[in-house]
Amino acid sequence: MPVTHEWWQRGVIYQIYPRSFLDTNGDGIGDLAGITRRLDYLAWLGVDAIWISPFYPSPMRDFGYDVTDHAAVDPRFGTLEDFDALLAEAHARGLRVILDYIPNHTADLHPWFVESRSSRENPRRDWYIWRDASADGGPPNNWISAFGGSAWEWDEATGQYYLHTFLREQPDLNWRNPDVERAMLEVVRFWMARGVDGLRLDAVQNTLKDDHFRDNPPNPDYREGVDDPFDRLERVFSGDRPEVHAVIARMRGVLREFSGERVLIGEIYNRVERLMAYYGEEGGGCHFPYNFQLIRLPWEARAIDAAVRRYEALLPPGGWPNWVLGNHDRHRVASRVGPAQARVAAMLLLTLRGTPTLYYGDEIGMADVPIPAERVQDPWEKNLPGKGLGRDPERTPMQWSAEPNAGFTAGDPWLPLADDYRRTNVQGQRGEPDSMLSLHRRLLKLRRAEPALAVGSYAPVDAQGDVLAYVREAEGTRFLVALNLGHDAATLAFDGAGEVALGTHADREGTPVESAIELRGDEGMVIRLRG
Ligand code: GLC
Ligand code: CA
Repeated sequence: MPVTHEWWQRGVIYQIYPRSFLDTNGDGIGDLAGITRRLDYLAWLGVDAIWISPFYPSPMRDFGYDVTDHAAVDPRFGTLEDFDALLAEAHARGLRVILDYIPNHTADLHPWFVESRSSRENPRRDWYIWRDASADGGPPNNWISAFGGSAWEWDEATGQYYLHTFLREQPDLNWRNPDVERAMLEVVRFWMARGVDGLRLDAVQNTLKDDHFRDNPPNPDYREGVDDPFDRLERVFSGDRPEVHAVIARMRGVLREFSGERVLIGEIYNRVERLMAYYGEEGGGCHFPYNFQLIRLPWEARAIDAAVRRYEALLPPGGWPNWVLGNHDRHRVASRVGPAQARVAAMLLLTLRGTPTLYYGDEIGMADVPIPAERVQDPWEKNLPGKGLGRDPERTPMQWSAEPNAGFTAGDPWLPLADDYRRTNVQGQRGEPDSMLSLHRRLLKLRRAEPALAVGSYAPVDAQGDVLAYVREAEGTRFLVALNLGHDAATLAFDGAGEVALGTHADREGTPVESAIELRGDEGMVIRLRG
């Protein structure tokens, strides 16, 4: 069975937010050399690939998601030579490297936009999305920016509005202009030629907008004062247009110009049904669109069970599943579900069918760090303060050791460290058999050794209350996964017998079980079934 699956199906992806991973020159900002230094750790942990959030030259209004040169390295992160060294060292350890590719927009300081805004006649004018004011002089339509306010910015000098789905410093590119597509596909070639193994496509559903720029309709489910203001409208015209799939197919075409199995992963926040089209016709789109359901669903066994079954049923033929518990845009799982359930969540992530993506620091149980007002960095928090939308709490420095600044930097860290870093850190957890880190390492090891867990089939098991259960199977080997998503003890009845292969509490391995499993509160178990 394993030979029929590619590395991106069998493997586990680890997301690195480079600013926060390891600083090697004391400027308080993580760098590429820092990632290289920690490749041994990642290989030891047992992941298969790293996805590195952007490190391209940037004014850092959105911390690298505002790019001024897509084919270079920002000096704060290092040099292209540092990148090549990172890639070579990763490959030498069998680790794949996935980069962040940002097709939807550039920084306003990108030379393309500087030209585009210089005059209406500039040859690059049409590289971005410029529109006249509406009849009343206001913005061309009702679209809103992900970070608050209108998605349109008035340009006094040339008397038109330009579109920015994100910050006003992140103008949207016009992918309907063939020169834009050509230039951006060259960027894909640049990194592929250097040897990267894949791309995560940032905000890819936004790259094509309605050709008539129609108003988005109101979202009937929107709760004023409760929901993110961005969700006030259904974003059916500002993105997720049918035309986007042809563009993704052409990105995929560029990957095929290169040898080896390279991967495209779409970042798409949308309803599950809408995700499925991103696999593309005959699988010629993304290898998989990110599935963020575990971040968004209530942490309840019945809700998650239903969502997993539904997702599995919706997948198109050949469509490979994937799961995510956290990333640099969402509050950390340990804070969302609490430290005890974070262990159960790790077991869920690493035993569901499909490629898991693990966010840096989650493997040691890092939690959101409260950020004092004067240290806020994230523009979203600055635009819409106090709404809990800010992303700094989940972007704080990786906690390596109990040394000052958790061993992250010899200087002043760009974001504060968690108060508890002397207790919660890699060095301290490495040697503890029942630590969160050891749990991750054991799960990754078992997954790697057992095709049933890496690529096997998934069959839901009926359970009650707070218990979530399913069976994974390959080549006649079967594992039952039983997870207690509640804090009280619970029982799962099942047909058959086996023994505990791995438990969240690390104290029952090898114990035989038959027809009923008694789970303690916050306990999860992987059971190797007999016969
Ligand atoms: C994606 C990124 C996010 C960024 C936005 C704009 O959602 O994950 O961090 O702010 O795109 O590029
Ligand atoms: Ca640095």
